[in-house]
Amino acid sequence: MPTDAPPGPLRILVFGAALRAESVNAQLASLVAHLIADTGAAVDLAAMREFEMPMYDGDMEADRGLPAGALALRDRIEQCDAFVISSPEYNGSVPGVLKNAIDWVSRVRPQPFKTKHALLVSASPSLVGGNRGLWALRVPLEHLGTRVYPDMFSLANAYEAFADGALKDPGLRQRLTETVEGFLSLVRADVRYVCLERRWYEFLGDRTEAAITQRAES
Ligand code: FNR
Repeated sequence: MPTDAPPGPLRILVFGAALRAESVNAQLASLVAHLIADTGAAVDLAAMREFEMPMYDGDMEADRGLPAGALALRDRIEQCDAFVISSPEYNGSVPGVLKNAIDWVSRVRPQPFKTKHALLVSASPSLVGGNRGLWALRVPLEHLGTRVYPDMFSLANAYEAFADGALKDPGLRQRLTETVEGFLSLVRADVRYVCLERRWYEFLGDRTEAAITQRAES
């Protein structure tokens, strides 16, 4: 039920998933962050470099628990209503560093991905813009219960695509803006208005988190 208190702004984490200082995915993340901020939402812009973590190792987890970088990323995910990932494509798939981060964070309980919506974008110097990597990225996120937005945005020829932080091509500019706005409309509807209840299990027979996940507070 709607409450009398006016809802605060949507909180969106925008995550550039590459380590490189000159990353075109960091540029795209920054552009998406500006588009989101223009709608009045609160943006938390993050970069992979902020979340240092070793390769996932079950022995290390058993001995020392989760690394600080994974816990910090978990905190940032928990504090948002939804997140955007801007990721490169490596060899037609998800870069190892991003998959490793998802694997570590998936070990936290409560597992934070399952209550979130996500928008996936990519940038690449190639002609397909890293789009195959995004299809691969859907798999672990959807496995973890994230509601991944159906539309994605992949920026081809990315090394030549920006001027002063904006996209040079007006058609692409419009498409990215519409994709971001459509995603935010869905997030707003779910977070603010729709009382959508669902059960989510990591695997059949899992009873550890059987309580209904409340997807909307109001
Ligand atoms: C790439 N790159 C790449 N590009 C692409 O479109 N499809 C691909 O499969 C790959 N594979 C790939 C593998 C590896 C190991 C590297 C290092 C690079 C090129 C990639 O898109 C390019 O380096 C981007 O600039 C990477 O993104 P950032 O770091 O600029 O955000």
